[in-house]
Amino acid sequence: MHTYQAMAGVDVVTQTVDVGGFGNLAVNAFVIHAEEPVLVDTGSVMASDDFMHALGAVIDPADLRWVWLTHTDFDHIGSLHRLLEANERLRVVTSFLGVGIMGLAAPLPMDRVYLVNPGQAVDVGDRMLRAVRPPAFDNPITMGLHDEGSGVFFSSDCFGALLDEVPERAEDVTEVTLRQGQVLWATVDSSWLHSVDRARFASALEQVRVLEPTMVLSSHLPAAQGTSLDRLLGALAEVPDASPFVGPDQAALELMLADLTGASGR
Ligand SMILES: [Fe+2]
Ligand SMILES: [Fe+2]
Repeated sequence: MHTYQAMAGVDVVTQTVDVGGFGNLAVNAFVIHAEEPVLVDTGSVMASDDFMHALGAVIDPADLRWVWLTHTDFDHIGSLHRLLEANERLRVVTSFLGVGIMGLAAPLPMDRVYLVNPGQAVDVGDRMLRAVRPPAFDNPITMGLHDEGSGVFFSSDCFGALLDEVPERAEDVTEVTLRQGQVLWATVDSSWLHSVDRARFASALEQVRVLEPTMVLSSHLPAAQGTSLDRLLGALAEVPDASPFVGPDQAALELMLADLTGASGR
């Protein structure tokens, strides 16, 4: 877990996770140093202690005013309740569905919630954060955001990539490696893209293009400059016709376990 600056006023709190032989994945949260500071997602459940420590290097959590929860997966909600309990001014931006799903595990206090639908915006003092549904997602709760102050598009899981090495800049990954890593991730995370209407998906990609983001900050990609947007969109456009991801089955698991047993016996 470490932090780096994506651009002036936007920090990344990041962890790299080994995805069982398929590559490494960045798990990012972001701090927007707005007049009312915003944390976008809260790291993984497993790494909450490390996350809180790293977050403290870029902001005092007591200064945060908003958590923008892009969705409720375990790699996004890790320190959510811890932060809420420690800071009574903190409010959680999410969708109606987000509140519903959290209610099955760890309910959100309703007076601490701020509900948004796509197109609606939250005023954080010196800028508006506008809710944008990204073109790919693994959870219908998903709500990305366009920071109208910095011009950054926070895309949640969309545009993620499985990579051998995870640098801090997407531009430090070769074009081919980035494309392959992005396509693989999208076939894992958004397998429904294989059955999507191609024209409607192209139109969803176009809606990101017209945002003309200065940067794309995905939960699962190194920070990407706006100048990389064509590459990012081009990779996603390939996903509907890419090979579907098929995970290891029981026979493969037994081979892996036998390997491990053999290795430990040697
Ligand atoms: Fe997710
Ligand atoms: Fe995620």
